[in-house]
Amino acid sequence: MIKAAILGHGTVGSGVYEVFEMNADKIACVAGEPVEIKYVLDLRDFSSLSYGHKFVSDFAVIENDPEVTVVAEVMGGVGAAYEFTRRCLLAGKSVCTSNKELVATRGDELLKIAEEKGVNYMFEASVGGGIPIIRPMLRCLAANEFNEICGILNGTTNYILTQMIHNGVTFADALRQAQLSGYAEKDPTADIEGHDACRKICILSNLAFGDKFDPDQVSCEGISGVTLEDVASAEKLGCVIKLIGRAVRNEDGTAYAYVAPHLIPKENLLASVEDVFNAIMINGNATGDVMFYGKGAGKLATASAVAADMLDCIEHAGHRLRISWGNGSKNLLRPIDTLQSAWYVRFRGDRKTIEAMLPVESLAEPTEGMLIARTSKLPTVDMEKKIARLGECGEVCAAMRIL
Ligand code: HSE
Repeated sequence: MIKAAILGHGTVGSGVYEVFEMNADKIACVAGEPVEIKYVLDLRDFSSLSYGHKFVSDFAVIENDPEVTVVAEVMGGVGAAYEFTRRCLLAGKSVCTSNKELVATRGDELLKIAEEKGVNYMFEASVGGGIPIIRPMLRCLAANEFNEICGILNGTTNYILTQMIHNGVTFADALRQAQLSGYAEKDPTADIEGHDACRKICILSNLAFGDKFDPDQVSCEGISGVTLEDVASAEKLGCVIKLIGRAVRNEDGTAYAYVAPHLIPKENLLASVEDVFNAIMINGNATGDVMFYGKGAGKLATASAVAADMLDCIEHAGHRLRISWGNGSKNLLRPIDTLQSAWYVRFRGDRKTIEAMLPVESLAEPTEGMLIARTSKLPTVDMEKKIARLGECGEVCAAMRIL
């Protein structure tokens, strides 16, 4: 019998327990013997649960139990989660997690400890919830250089934008609906301001390019400024608005990485990804575009990815998946100033002014005095300067990249 432990009994933690119970036979078959969740660490009182006797509040019980060989860290945050992960790895236990904040900020250190101790630190569930993405990048696409990663990486914001696009719901009301449906947290900042998507694009960039992309250094804009007017304007341009996390490799090996709302032409597959679903497009220099799609959030979808990592650790005990990236010293992240993009600009003012000041490719005037421009591609820094100058001659209501 294999013994495992779960750190944290929130949404994902309880889901991991449920998956191990629900699919016990299948899991025993894959692992070669039954797997028992011996402990669940949580300070709250869960004594009324059928497995209430498994709860412990002292992490040292798990740390010091040599029977426990694999641990799920599903606490979230970077405080206790970091400390407990580090101590589990040092104690020779593999750790599997959905904690993207921890992987993005301290994954390099934790992977190093795992390597030194001959155990695994795995994080399939940290990006895309139930969508297999980390392992495909590490294994199936391993022979490629990665040119680009571009995806809808946050379920909550995609749900909000879907409500705005299809049901004409305002941002504020859509956010309230997302909270009532259990998608958005009480404090939704990390989702709506793009920080969650930023951590995820950093993790994918670390894997793709081999060095740490620090979320604090990556340009990040959320969707709180997106209005129904923008949604309608995007429609006029044959597009929908999506929050995109994107990383693009340059010829010299550096890369852009950023998160921002974009207009997506409807013929692009990402345009049809709706509700809490995520999709990630990866361009390999041998494969071309490969697309991953599925539930990017949710209890059992995310728990399934954590449990699969745990099974991988059990099945291949004594072997390490070679996952690592540098500590950021290669300075691969290039500022997006030089990234070339086409833009959508909504401007209240004079037609001749906008035509003179921006490289306009098409211009519509849905209501008198309100102009919707699509521009040709320019480096970000040049476009931002032009838009700032335009703002002195009228009102720039919105400006967004077009994918
Ligand atoms: N808050 C995240 C989302 C959960 O909405 O996508 C999954 O990482």
